Amino acid sequence: MMRRILVANPKGGSGKSTLAVHLASWFARNDEIVYLGDMDRQHSSRYWLEARPRHLAAIRHWEVSEEEVTPPPKHCSIAILDTPAGLHGKRLKQVLNEVERVVVPVSPSRFDMLATREFFEELANTKAVRKERVDIGVVGMRVDPRTHAYQQLREFLDQFDLPVITCISQSQRYLQAADTGITLFDNDANHVAIDSQWRPLLDWLVSRH
Ligand SMILES: Nc1ncnc2c1ncn2[C@@H]1O[C@H](COP(=O)(O)OP(=O)(O)OP(=O)(O)O)[C@@H](O)[C@H]1O
Ligand SMILES: [Mg+2]
Repeated sequence: MMRRILVANPKGGSGKSTLAVHLASWFARNDEIVYLGDMDRQHSSRYWLEARPRHLAAIRHWEVSEEEVTPPPKHCSIAILDTPAGLHGKRLKQVLNEVERVVVPVSPSRFDMLATREFFEELANTKAVRKERVDIGVVGMRVDPRTHAYQQLREFLDQFDLPVITCISQSQRYLQAADTGITLFDNDANHVAIDSQWRPLLDWLVSRH
């Protein structure tokens, strides 16, 4: 069964591309046929993919543009769509028709939470969400569950009827990915440093609807 995943939050810098490339490399490493698409004109995850060393687990390029998202090839098992800041309205509705899961990274800053509130409200009003054709999962990004910031994020998110799947801490480990096309998940196969932070997200993404 193909699983199509949208990574979205109209707030710039919320961690979409970081999440998208890490998920792609995790699933590729686990023998899935992974396609990564990038609707962003800045092509962050596309450049990441171009930089990716050939010997690593293959991630294929899913040809999409800002205007148009064509379905991924049929033999694909995991399709991940990275999206630009500011995605909303008609184009958001269109892409929601192409996926089953939506991952929304949220940073625990005031501005991020305010912008995300509008996004959640917009999502709640789309047909795909109302009819429960897509599942939305929130991921706290750059947030440590032991902190006050996490408490604030929790209180904010409690206002919405959306599951918080996991929180990913702020870490240098995610920075190197950008220029190298490599993620921490590409390290030695049997010793992948999947910590407790990523596991709930990976499980949720492949769980049944
Ligand atoms: N958990 C993390 N720890 C440390 N740095 C992070 C983490 N998540 C994201 N970053 C950094 O934050 C910056 C923004 O992240 P990213 O580019 O993934 O966001 P984005 O939502 O794709 O941004 P845009 O809206 O511009 O596309 C990047 O420099 C990235 O390396
Ligand atoms: Mg991005």
